[in-house]
Amino acid sequence: QPRGDSASKQNFLLEFSQCLVDFVVQLLPTIEELAVKEDVRKLLERLIRTIEPESRLLSFGSTANGFSLRNSDMDLCCLIDSDERTTASNLVTLLGDLLERETKFRVKPLPHARIPIVKLNLDPSPGLPFGISCDIGFENRLALENTRLLMCYAMIDPARVRTMVLFLKVWSKRRRINSPYHGTLSSYGYVLMVLYFLIHVKNPPVLPNLQQMSPIRQISKEEMHLNGFNIWFFDDIELLRQRWQSANTETVAELLIDFFKYFSREFSYGLGVASIRAGLLKKESKGWSTEPDPITGRERNRFGIEDPFETDFNVARCVTKEGLFMIRGEFMRASRVFSARPERAIVALAQLCE
Ligand code: GTP
Ligand code: MG
Repeated sequence: QPRGDSASKQNFLLEFSQCLVDFVVQLLPTIEELAVKEDVRKLLERLIRTIEPESRLLSFGSTANGFSLRNSDMDLCCLIDSDERTTASNLVTLLGDLLERETKFRVKPLPHARIPIVKLNLDPSPGLPFGISCDIGFENRLALENTRLLMCYAMIDPARVRTMVLFLKVWSKRRRINSPYHGTLSSYGYVLMVLYFLIHVKNPPVLPNLQQMSPIRQISKEEMHLNGFNIWFFDDIELLRQRWQSANTETVAELLIDFFKYFSREFSYGLGVASIRAGLLKKESKGWSTEPDPITGRERNRFGIEDPFETDFNVARCVTKEGLFMIRGEFMRASRVFSARPERAIVALAQLCE
């Protein structure tokens, strides 16, 4: 039967919200997987300490921010609490040799990359059917902070925020638009788009802007800045939950449908920059030229997403003209699935992720 009246529309939205939750829950990492990953982190930390005794190895990215899916890779960051440390590229070489000797990982040190890292891979085995892939970087304190910011946003309204983000991560991977190497957008970029939408586009907002709230105690300049960037944000989520409640009562299904609509037709890709810190900004005012890079000839800033702390950094810098065409095409395709008024939520979900 045609789904004309508002009661059946409401029913569809509730059913679709439940489908989304069920769908992402079965894709969450298992307890065993998390335990294995924590063991790996500890083992690697012990080995690194044989080179740099005063170092710590910390998780960041999805394993630490609440947006992790099954078999996602591990992002690790090594912090060295001593003044006389070796340079990152030396450490990458030393650590690469050590891990090659002492572990079963396939090791690929990249000491001369823009951000020197060691890449590790463990082949699949019966106990670990997808293996493990892991990147170890050094002193990337800003990444630890943006991970903490994302985690705080996830904690404010997990039912809506985590469901939406996890769904978009799976969806963008299945639709093959989650690959900065091929001109599309990283998972980190999609998470920032969702947060931007929930903080700045939705009215009333689903999330507060943690970077613009007032601190409850005096914060020193040193505490507030890292490498010259302001990294302060309101991180007392318990207190926030007592004091703040969103006036937005939309279901996760409504939010997702509206997200697709907004990013297929309304967002100004040509001139605008999405900033979770400051709302909609202009490429021009940030000096983000859309002309090709005069040295590499590569195009840049086709799509603008401001990093929450490194504000001169465009998280979507790798997105090419073709990549953006594909991304917007996918948002439009998703919107069409809903405007065709599907009767069954489960069918709509299957079509979306086909
Ligand atoms: P999956 O690996 O797909 O599960 O997603 P993820 O949540 O781990 O995201 P991703 O691998 O894209 O990024 C991991 C972390 O690296 C992010 O949480 C950021 O802390 C950091 N990161 C990734 N890309 C950028 C970037 O372009 N700029 C900055 N500053 N940090 C980034
Ligand atoms: Mg990752």
